[in-house]
Amino acid sequence: MAQCRLLRVCHVLVLALCVSATEDFDWTRNEKGSFYYGTFPTGFSWGAGSSAYQTEGAWDKDGKGMSIWDAFSHKKGKIYLNDTGDSSCDGYYTVKEDIRLMKDMKLNHYRFSISWPRIMPKGIKSDQINEKGIQYYDNLISMLLENQITPIVTLYHWDLPQVLEEKYGGWQNSSMINFFNDYANLCFERFGSRVKYWITFNNPWSIAVEGYETGEHAPGLKLKGTGAYKAAHNIIKAHAKVWHTYDTQWRSKQKGMVGISLSGDWGEPVDITNQRDIEAADRYMQFYLGWFATPLFNGDYPQVMKDYVGRKSAQQGLGSSRLPTFNPQEKSYIRGTCDFLGIGHFTTRYITQKNYPSIRGNSYFTDRDLAELVDPQWPDPGSEWLYSVPWGFRRLLNFVKSQYGNPMIYVTENGVSEKMVCTDLCDEWRMQYFKDYINEMLKAVNDGVNVKGYTAWSLLDKFEWDEGYSERFGLYYVDFRSKNKPRYPKASVQYYKRIISSNGFPNQREIESWKRKATETCTSSNQLLAAARRKSKENKEHAEMPKVWPVHDEV
Ligand SMILES: *[C@@H]1O[C@H](CO)[C@@H](O)[C@H](O)[C@H]1NC(C)=O
Ligand SMILES: *[C@@H]1O[C@H](CO)[C@@H](O)[C@H](O)[C@H]1NC(C)=O
Repeated sequence: MAQCRLLRVCHVLVLALCVSATEDFDWTRNEKGSFYYGTFPTGFSWGAGSSAYQTEGAWDKDGKGMSIWDAFSHKKGKIYLNDTGDSSCDGYYTVKEDIRLMKDMKLNHYRFSISWPRIMPKGIKSDQINEKGIQYYDNLISMLLENQITPIVTLYHWDLPQVLEEKYGGWQNSSMINFFNDYANLCFERFGSRVKYWITFNNPWSIAVEGYETGEHAPGLKLKGTGAYKAAHNIIKAHAKVWHTYDTQWRSKQKGMVGISLSGDWGEPVDITNQRDIEAADRYMQFYLGWFATPLFNGDYPQVMKDYVGRKSAQQGLGSSRLPTFNPQEKSYIRGTCDFLGIGHFTTRYITQKNYPSIRGNSYFTDRDLAELVDPQWPDPGSEWLYSVPWGFRRLLNFVKSQYGNPMIYVTENGVSEKMVCTDLCDEWRMQYFKDYINEMLKAVNDGVNVKGYTAWSLLDKFEWDEGYSERFGLYYVDFRSKNKPRYPKASVQYYKRIISSNGFPNQREIESWKRKATETCTSSNQLLAAARRKSKENKEHAEMPKVWPVHDEV
C-alpha cells in the first residue's frame, strides 16, 4: 500500500516535470558535428518570403496612403545612395509572373506582408478603406491557392501609415494598439476564409530598436534608453489584442493560427568555461528574443531585463525603470498568445561580459552590459553584419525549445546577401549557406525541436531598408536598372529546388551532384544578364525585356 502511494507520487512528479514549460538550456554543450544525411518529416513546408515595402513598388498608386518608409526614404541622407522603394521590384504588377517562379521551385508556401496604408490609407478604419488595395491582396491570395501555395501573411512588416506617426508618434503611443487591431480585424474579415497563417509583427526588435532608439530605420527617432522599450511595450500589447480578437471572433469559423515572427542572432559565450560569459550570452538572448517571447509565453519580461534596466535607471537617478511594466491583468491577457512562433535568423555573435557605467545616460545597448564579437575566420559573403555560422542556428532553435516549452516553429526568414557589385548569378556562397543552415535545422528537428516549415529569404532581390539596393538577398536576381525589372534565376534556385524535392539531404552521392548541376544552368543565365546589361547601357531608354527568364528544368 505504502509502496503504491510512493509510486503514484513519483508518477505525478514525472508528469509535472513533463508539463513544466521551461527547462534549462545547456550552454556548455555545443555539438558541432559533421554533415547529417537525412530528410525532414513528411509534410514539412518549404517556402520563400518577401515584404510589401521591399518589393511592391507602386508606392502612390491606386489610392495607397503614405507609410513611414515612404516618408523616411524620401528624405535625403537616410538610405544608401538616397534610393527609395518607390518602384523596387514592381511586384504590385507582377503577381502572375512571380507566382510562376514559386511554382517552378514547387514551393509549399509563400510568405508576404500586407501594406497597412495600401488598404487603409489614413491608418484608421473609419476614415477610409481602399478597395483597390484589398483587391490586390485578394488576387494574390487567390492565385497562390490556385497554384497550391499556402499564403503565410504578415500584417506588419514595418510600413506604418505615416499619418499615425505624425498625429500620434507611432508606436510610442498606446493608441496604436486599437488602430492596429482594427486593421487586423479587417484583414481577418476580408482574407481570413483563405488565409490560415497570420503573423502579426515581423521582427519587432528591429521596429523598436532601429525605428525608435538608433533611428537607422523609419521613423528615424533617436530616443535613447526609452524609445525602444516603449515601442516594444505597445507592440506586445497590440499583438496580444489581435490574437484575442482572432481567438474570440474568427477562430471557430476560420480555423487558422496567429503567431509573431521574431528575429534573433545566436549569442554564444566566448568562453564556455566562464560563468560570466555564459550569463552575458544569456542576457544577450533575453534582451533580443526573450524581450518579446517571454511576455507572449510566460506573461512578463525576462527577469534579467527587469533587473538590469531597473538598476541602471536607478543609477541614473530615475524614479522608475525605463522598462515599462505590465499589470497583473495585462500579464494574464498577454500570456499564451502565440499559436506558432516565427523565427528569423541570419547570423551569430560571440558574447562576453562588459560593464558600461551609467554616468552619461544609458541606451538599450549599454543596459545589457555585454560586448559582441565575431570570429575573423567566419565567412562573410555579403552584408558586413552577416557571417555564416550554421551551428548557431541549431543552438538558437534548441534554445527556443527549452525556454518556451517547445512551441510550434516556422522559420520565417533565413538567407544570405551579396554585394551589389557582384552580378554573378552562380552564387556558390548562397548554395553553401542554404545547405549548411538547413542541415543544422534538420539536426535541430532530430533534437526534438518542433520546426514545421522553412522560409528562404528572399524570393527576389529587393529594397533593403537603409542599405537601399546594395545588398541582394534574392534567390532571383532583379535587374533594377531595367524598366520591367526582369528576374533572373541564381544558381541557388536550382539548389533550393533540389532540397525541396528531396525534402532534405537523402544521401551523399546525390547531394554532391547538386551544386555542379546548379552551376551549369547559371552560366547561361549569366550570359543573358550580361547581354541585357550591355543593351541597356547602349540604349539609354532601356530596351524592353522579358520580365522573367524561363527557368531550365533538368531535374
Ligand atoms: C544624398 O542626398 C544628400 C543630401 O541632399 C547629398 O548630400 C548626397 O550627396 C546624396 N547622395 C547621393 C549618392 O546622391
Ligand atoms: C498619444 O496621442 C494622443 C493624441 O494625439 C496624445 O494626446 C497623447 O499625448 C499621445 N501619447 C503619447 C504617449 O505620446
